[in-house]
Amino acid sequence: MLKWDVVYHIGVPVLDKQHNRIIELANDLVVNILRCEDIEKERQITEAALAELVAYTANHLQEEEGYMQQYNYPEIAEHKREHEILMTEAQRILAESQQGKGGFSFDALMVMKKWLEEHILVCDKKLGAFLQLAEQKHEK
Ligand SMILES: [Fe+2]
Ligand SMILES: [Fe+2]
Repeated sequence: MLKWDVVYHIGVPVLDKQHNRIIELANDLVVNILRCEDIEKERQITEAALAELVAYTANHLQEEEGYMQQYNYPEIAEHKREHEILMTEAQRILAESQQGKGGFSFDALMVMKKWLEEHILVCDKKLGAFLQLAEQKHEK
């Protein structure tokens, strides 16, 4: 199981803290599903945890986009598109769960989790490097 790790560090403390929380929420969700033996109970736990993860992630993405706008990040369009794809998928999994069609697919959740982690490692890292540089210039 992937844990919050220094590899996820993008060098912007506020965003790092949020990424840490997102990974924590996603990990807990997966662990709870794997541990639970009662399907009905599992459904209730995961639905609440999934809703929390999706809401927290949505807020984080918005805040991140705020930074991109503020610092005129040149790759804002591409980065925002990635966020949209991620949120569409997250909302779909959440809706699937809330419609009570026997819960959502565990595979879909794992795909989303992997997606989140990769997004941090690739897109957010790039943004982090840019923001750090912008900060340095600002301080001079
Ligand atoms: Fe991002
Ligand atoms: Fe992010």
